Amino acid sequence: MQKEIMIQLLDVAKRFGEVEAVKGISLDIFPGEFITFLGPSGCGKTTTLRMIGGFEDPDRGDVLIDGFSVKDKKPYERDVNTVFQSYALFPHMSVFDNVAFGLKMKKIKESELRTRVEEALSLVKMEHYANRLPKQLSGGEQQRVAVARAIVNNPRVLLLDEPLGALDLKLRKQMQVELKHLQKKLKMTFIYVTHDQEEALVMSDRVVVMNKGQVEQIDSPTDVYRYPKSRFVADFIGETNLLKCTVGEEKNGLLFLRHGQTVLQASAELAVGAAVGREGFLSIRPEEIKVYETSPASQKSKADGGSADTIIPASVEEVIFIGSTAKLITRTKTPEAIVLIAHSPLAAGSALVGKTVFLSWSPEQAIFITE
Ligand SMILES: Nc1ncnc2c1ncn2[C@@H]1O[C@H](COP(=O)(O)OP(=O)(O)O)[C@@H](O)[C@H]1O
Ligand SMILES: [Mg+2]
Repeated sequence: MQKEIMIQLLDVAKRFGEVEAVKGISLDIFPGEFITFLGPSGCGKTTTLRMIGGFEDPDRGDVLIDGFSVKDKKPYERDVNTVFQSYALFPHMSVFDNVAFGLKMKKIKESELRTRVEEALSLVKMEHYANRLPKQLSGGEQQRVAVARAIVNNPRVLLLDEPLGALDLKLRKQMQVELKHLQKKLKMTFIYVTHDQEEALVMSDRVVVMNKGQVEQIDSPTDVYRYPKSRFVADFIGETNLLKCTVGEEKNGLLFLRHGQTVLQASAELAVGAAVGREGFLSIRPEEIKVYETSPASQKSKADGGSADTIIPASVEEVIFIGSTAKLITRTKTPEAIVLIAHSPLAAGSALVGKTVFLSWSPEQAIFITE
């Protein structure tokens, strides 16, 4: 069955003088999804969002809502509402009046207005703060009011530009979950912008990874994390080890990659566009590297008649405690002396510094990327 498309970006581009902020983005957004533009500062996220909202006109391309171009429609004529990074609440108005403002402009009658404002405040758990002024609220509470003010209009789409940017970490994490629950409850389409990869992974149904005004990858959070399609995505999302390699040969579903004199294996199935002789990068997540104090090779080969797991001896140069695990900075005992980072639940901690360990990973966890 064809999924109904709600918003379509067709090769939209925007330039500010010399700066090509958005270089031609095409994208379909579906009703009820939580989609996030993720990328470093300056990559064009806000500009893209503003073109959807109608605050910025594209130089090229078009934005369609329900199949129709909204080129000539003002922001308030699009069934879209925006929550900006700065809460932009009216300082002299109570919480209630802030939320009611848009409805009053639309001349909604008093009884309905009251019901809708109370409902919106209750959805963001601010029903007991209706009479306060914004300055009597914490940052998180103000942001909740800003969200209430946007959803009270019952738009089909909510645009949110780094709405949690000003909050401290703990509150931000709490609000991430709350916003996600709210979105599911309202079945509203959320188009969200953040530069925080963890935030994007936690909240979204799909993530649009952007870099320099272009889309690098559009996928579910698990897929952008596990199957990055470009070096940029592998590097930007989470932490990874990236090794420059050349494809040597492909055999039995495995790619044999040359990194200097060291040969590393990767799953051929998960590699995109890998042909013999092709250069690229191997990405191995630190948490996928198992750390052994004695070589696992002998037990392994007996157990399953030889395995494709890579096993490399390495010396531990530094151990950094990161809470639930330790981060090991190691250098392989191969001619290239590759620096590899492994996350290990090993309790040994700093006692490993200077010791030799064996690093091991399976080919399914080694993703070859050609660009
Ligand atoms: N109104 C503007 N005038 C000039 N340059 C702008 C304007 N808005 C954005 N830019 C530039 O366009 C690029 C993309 O900006 P923006 O979309 O805000 O990125 P992001 O939201 O990803 O940080 C940046 O280089 C920024 O400086
Ligand atoms: Mg921005």
